Amino acid sequence: MLSIDMPAIEIGPLSSSAEIRSMLSELLIDVVAHGGSVGFMHPLPLEQAQAFWRNSLAAAALGARIVLGAFERDSLIGTVSLLLDCPPNQPHRAEIAKLMTRRDHRGRGVASSLIRAAETLAVEHRRSLLVLDTATDQGASAFYEKLGYVRAGEIPDYALKPHSGLTGTIVFWKRLQAEPLGATEAIR
Ligand SMILES: CC(C)(COP(=O)(O)OP(=O)(O)OC[C@H]1O[C@@H](n2cnc3c(N)ncnc32)[C@H](O)[C@@H]1OP(=O)(O)O)[C@@H](O)C(=O)NCCC(=O)NCCS
Repeated sequence: MLSIDMPAIEIGPLSSSAEIRSMLSELLIDVVAHGGSVGFMHPLPLEQAQAFWRNSLAAAALGARIVLGAFERDSLIGTVSLLLDCPPNQPHRAEIAKLMTRRDHRGRGVASSLIRAAETLAVEHRRSLLVLDTATDQGASAFYEKLGYVRAGEIPDYALKPHSGLTGTIVFWKRLQAEPLGATEAIR
């Protein structure tokens, strides 16, 4: 576990277990119920949430992504995913997805710590470019701007909001100081 400038909170990669899947599913269902735009509609059935995390953690076991969890004692209070499985011509890139903090733990720096941990892991995987998107309505664009992400642009009517109606999405990017890939690695 990494402990990033929040002594009570431990952050580290998650692997699949019934308990982890259940904590992740509970968090996802609650975030969606309260309007979080993270790819799902409300009400999110437990089976759908469980299936999402089962697949996500299976991809993590194969090295295609890293699912990070933030824990306070034994409780999962936040998560973020670093997607590493990019096309062969983008080996230097990774994507940030499914960032969420439990509602009763927001405003304490949990998500910022998760993003910093994801960036550290991205650099370890020699990824020098991160991309992500966030909803224009009830999204987290100001949060990402604070962390140095650059706004590339907005796509209107990109997705449905969890409780109905369309929202646009804002695409962000950030360069990281990662060891450059050699020319031969980059073209492989
Ligand atoms: C966005 C989210 C992950 C932030 O979690 P958090 O743990 O409360 O974030 P932090 O405490 O690290 O916030 C860091 C800073 O960003 C600000 N911030 C947090 N969420 C924000 C938001 N949605 N919009 C604007 N600013 C935000 C905080 O006020 C804080 O500012 P400060 O440093 O000046 O005090 C959380 O609100 C959440 O889970 N939202 C629902 C899911 C979602 O929208 N995820 C993003 C999908 S791309």
